[in-house]
Amino acid sequence: MLAIIGGTGLSELEGFEQLEKVAVKTSYGLVKVRLVRIGSGDKEFIFLPRHGAGHKIPPHKINYRANIAALSDLGVTAIVAINAVGAIHGDFLPGSVAVPDQLIDYSYSRDVSFFDGKLKIVHHIDFTNPYSEPIRQRILEAMESVNFHSKTDFKVMAGGTYACTQGPRLETAAEVRRLAQDGCDMVGMTGMPEASLARELEIEYASLALSVNWAAGLSEVPITLDDIHEVLEGGMEFVSAVITEIVQRI
Ligand code: HPA
Repeated sequence: MLAIIGGTGLSELEGFEQLEKVAVKTSYGLVKVRLVRIGSGDKEFIFLPRHGAGHKIPPHKINYRANIAALSDLGVTAIVAINAVGAIHGDFLPGSVAVPDQLIDYSYSRDVSFFDGKLKIVHHIDFTNPYSEPIRQRILEAMESVNFHSKTDFKVMAGGTYACTQGPRLETAAEVRRLAQDGCDMVGMTGMPEASLARELEIEYASLALSVNWAAGLSEVPITLDDIHEVLEGGMEFVSAVITEIVQRI
């Protein structure tokens, strides 16, 4: 079973038939997800809005362990995470999309592991390649078939390094300069520990990142939430079309 984890701009799934709300009790807390059907077909997936219905939970307060444990309990074997990000790479202008292939975690004070000494014995997962290559390829194919290029001037970045910052504040210009020096192409606040928790439970995980602003200090104009929401609204129609295609492929 496939799960889509929706991020900022995708707390509600419009245009899909939503079959039932499912509440899952995990050792880490209660998680509410929705079972969603695509069109008239028999394809179903699970939708989990990362920030809760109505987008109320900030990045540093998300119960990442409960979310991933709930998906695992429901039999999820693949996750496509949708992440709104600030662009660092010069080609990644707002409105563009990326399927990152690496990440650096700058977040802190989050519950980062199921191997916390209480429930499971210590294990060190291999995280050399943090994203599932097969799922990344399915996302890229789905984007190709939606024909992103013909519809917009924006780009698809078929890779890139995702920086996960703590939030909820945006970065300083100096922090973004450091991220760029570290080789990061985009910056968001929710990519970790989601990706590593999925790996711990052996769930294939990849991200579809939507650039919604130039990261701090990279543009003359200040970053405003109004501008971010405008890009998000424009981008989510495309993201929904890609989700429909991904569900056929996974
Ligand atoms: N920084 C961190 N997270 C973000 C940004 C940003 O500029 N834009 C969207 N999510």
